Amino acid sequence: MPWNPDLYHKFQSERSAPFYDLLALVEARANLEVVDLGCGTGELTRQLADRLPNSRVTGLDSSPQMLDKAASFTTPGLVFQPGDQSTLTGKWDLIFSNAALQWSENHAELIPYLFDKLNPGGQIAVQVPSNHNHISHQIYRETAEEDMFKFILQGFQRYSPVLTIDNYARILFDCGAERIVVFEKIYPHVLENADAVVDWLSGTALVPYFERLGNYKDEFVKSIREKMRAAMPDSPVFYPFRRILFSARKPR
Ligand SMILES: C[S@@+](CC[C@H](N)C(=O)[O-])C[C@H]1O[C@@H](n2cnc3c(N)ncnc32)[C@H](O)[C@@H]1O
Repeated sequence: MPWNPDLYHKFQSERSAPFYDLLALVEARANLEVVDLGCGTGELTRQLADRLPNSRVTGLDSSPQMLDKAASFTTPGLVFQPGDQSTLTGKWDLIFSNAALQWSENHAELIPYLFDKLNPGGQIAVQVPSNHNHISHQIYRETAEEDMFKFILQGFQRYSPVLTIDNYARILFDCGAERIVVFEKIYPHVLENADAVVDWLSGTALVPYFERLGNYKDEFVKSIREKMRAAMPDSPVFYPFRRILFSARKPR
């Protein structure tokens, strides 16, 4: 998918807050083999690496655009590589992923697959957005169902594969994990207005739609903006954003 690093960075402070909550769940130790799945533009991966002395950290991402930006954060202990998080190979002491696993399907299989890639004593720490039932998401899905867009998109819709916190806890338990922590948190963002919500979505959830819309992208965004302004007339707009964080350890 053609990610746009500049658009993604427009809300950098709001997007990095959950990263710090996730980082707080990491049990920092020295000499770890670490992978950051869906590392994006790399600055947060660098912060992760800085917390883990003498570790070897790999930032993995499927987007050449994001990896281009990430390259400048390389250090002797931090490298960036292209790859698909859902087919991760190797063995790791820490599998870390901030706001990326929602782009891979079937978490009931994906989480056990990733857990299997942990060394004994290894930790998985994940943050995924769980905001998919918010009105802002309903609006673009409804727009994609309108005749013209439905035709151009050939009926495409993307539904979040993110599960409930109960599901993640159960999946981790069934993996044999210990020190299971799972919680959902609302990040109370305050954005300028409804247009800012559309800009936010344009950097993430709308990316797979844009990829398929070609020249009709602007028309699609215009239609979403109109509906979003009607649904959220306030300025500033309160944009409560749900996210799920979980961490667990493989027994030694
Ligand atoms: C919302 S960004 C998060 C980036 C970074 N982790 C952060 O916290 O800023 C999602 C990232 O996941 C990457 N991504 C999406 N699907 C992927 C996949 N199947 N394998 C690896 N990376 C993927 C995208 O290219 C993008 O850089």
